[in-house]
Amino acid sequence: MSSKKKPKVYITRKLPDAVETRMRELFDAELNVDDVRRTAAELAEAVQTADVLVPTVTDRIDAALIDQAGPQLKLIASFSNGTDNIDVDAAARKGITVTNTPNVLTEDTADMTMALILALPRRLAEGARVLTNDASDWEGWSPTWMLGRRIWGKRIGIVGMGRIGTAVARRAKAFGLSIHYHNRKRVNPETEEELEATYWDSLDQMLARVDFVSVNCPSTPATYHLLSARRIALMQPSAYIVNVARGGIIDEAALIQQLRDGKLAGAGLDVYEHEPAVNPKLVKLAKEGKVVLLPHMGSATIEGRIDMGDKVIINIRAFIDGHRPPNRVLPGRD
Ligand code: DGY
Repeated sequence: MSSKKKPKVYITRKLPDAVETRMRELFDAELNVDDVRRTAAELAEAVQTADVLVPTVTDRIDAALIDQAGPQLKLIASFSNGTDNIDVDAAARKGITVTNTPNVLTEDTADMTMALILALPRRLAEGARVLTNDASDWEGWSPTWMLGRRIWGKRIGIVGMGRIGTAVARRAKAFGLSIHYHNRKRVNPETEEELEATYWDSLDQMLARVDFVSVNCPSTPATYHLLSARRIALMQPSAYIVNVARGGIIDEAALIQQLRDGKLAGAGLDVYEHEPAVNPKLVKLAKEGKVVLLPHMGSATIEGRIDMGDKVIINIRAFIDGHRPPNRVLPGRD
């Protein structure tokens, strides 16, 4: 990349106006103002011409695509925290650096996780529908109507105690839940003490003992179907599961079966195994009030998106200036 010429930066989706304006000023930016999903052919053309590719979670940046990249492509600066859609190892083999946008999504994603944790036992979505339903014939309060389950005093088991898992734990503690977690390694003693958290080396044992399971681990080959049919079956029939991480971490067909069989109280999902397709059986369960479904909006705040854009820009500029970009994603992570 020449230091005089602006780098050609190909951005696959529409970004907030402020981010696009800055990108136009700094780079030879190819934007997607109409936000039409780029096809595989368009992405292939982009990797043959752009110096920097800025994909999002909706683009599949696999080895086949990376193989087609021209020698000018040196950086994939993803507008995302998760990079499970990018073959980081294939990029490294081709000498392409990959960066992401960690930290700035943490609090927003934890808020949405907490919203689902609250929504399920308190029947929020069902209740909200009562008044907006055209056929609504609500006659007023009744002592035995719309009873949910108490949240305070229950146990939450957090699967993946990274930044987002810890932020969920802080919120959950404030709502009177006792904190249990499973993680590849134990968090530091200060955090455990602050959260009064119990560490479970065995995910199986934790699942069997908690009232809420919150999935907050990254999606990697090692976490694919981590919540398998066998493990979901270990959960108590009164328990709820919430997933704001990635759909593939839960065996969705097994989850649906458990819910239909009444072996699980409910699920709150923001992500899906075959996203953007949502299993019609889940939609049916949502209509029956057993699940709350959101359209992958866990981190969707304007502040968060602008912060993500700033991170992408910082990563690109650092790279172009010959520095190590602050949010490099290292290859070889399972
Ligand atoms: C991410 O960036 O990984 C999020 O899932 C997008 O909301």
